[in-house]
Amino acid sequence: FYKKDLKAKTVLVSAGPTVEPIDPVRFISNHSSGKMGYAIAGAAEKRGANVILVSGPVSLDPPVGVTRVSVGSCDQMYDAMLESLDQADIIIKVAAVGDFKPVSVQAHKIKKSGTQGAVTLELTQNKDILKAIGLKKRKNQYLVGFAAETRDLETYAVGKMEKKQLDMIVANIVGKSGSGFKADTNKVKLFTRDGQVTDLPLMTKEKVAHAILDAVVQAVV
Ligand code: PMT
Repeated sequence: FYKKDLKAKTVLVSAGPTVEPIDPVRFISNHSSGKMGYAIAGAAEKRGANVILVSGPVSLDPPVGVTRVSVGSCDQMYDAMLESLDQADIIIKVAAVGDFKPVSVQAHKIKKSGTQGAVTLELTQNKDILKAIGLKKRKNQYLVGFAAETRDLETYAVGKMEKKQLDMIVANIVGKSGSGFKADTNKVKLFTRDGQVTDLPLMTKEKVAHAILDAVVQAVV
């Protein structure tokens, strides 16, 4: 049994990777499986929230009772998040959004013939969805970001919290076994804008999800 401490709250979660097409058969993406974001969406639903899950392509089924909006690229995720932003009380951005996309998408499959060894793919920066939400959000909306880092976890995470005007950042150690992309467990440290630090042990993504929601509930409910 779960305490219904998110009853009457709308939680907007983003999860999974984004995919940026190169041509009709190729794309740029990353290793996000969606497990962490789906665990948060499922945990929030069990605690009584109305949950909207904006998800990049993953092989997971949406948690029972959760409304899923499926997207591909960063631009699509941006539009879907902004569309639901008004109704959200809590926004948790777990998605691994691609920072770059090809400058142009080729209409036809790029052929090997005619290229001599090296091929150049010109990239441009994607929109920063979290930063845009940080600028637009109302005072009574609580915004949580994630930071996937391989080193200097605290410095980078706290820097992102300030730059993107977040209320909380979940600093996630990646590149170590049992934590981060694809794993069933995760090792995170929470930092809030008002200076609270919570170092959580390595545990299942479901337990991490509930611990993050505990911290959010403490701040907002
Ligand atoms: O999906 P899993 O396999 O379970 O893996 C989980 C995870 C490792 C993907 C997850 O726990 C995690 O750390 N997610 C954040 C990954 C990430 O992209 O981190 P970042 O440091 O590059 O981005 C910081 C924040 O800005 C994130 O909240 C991200 O959603 C957001 N962002 C980043 C770039 C961009 N263009 N727009 C964004 O909104």
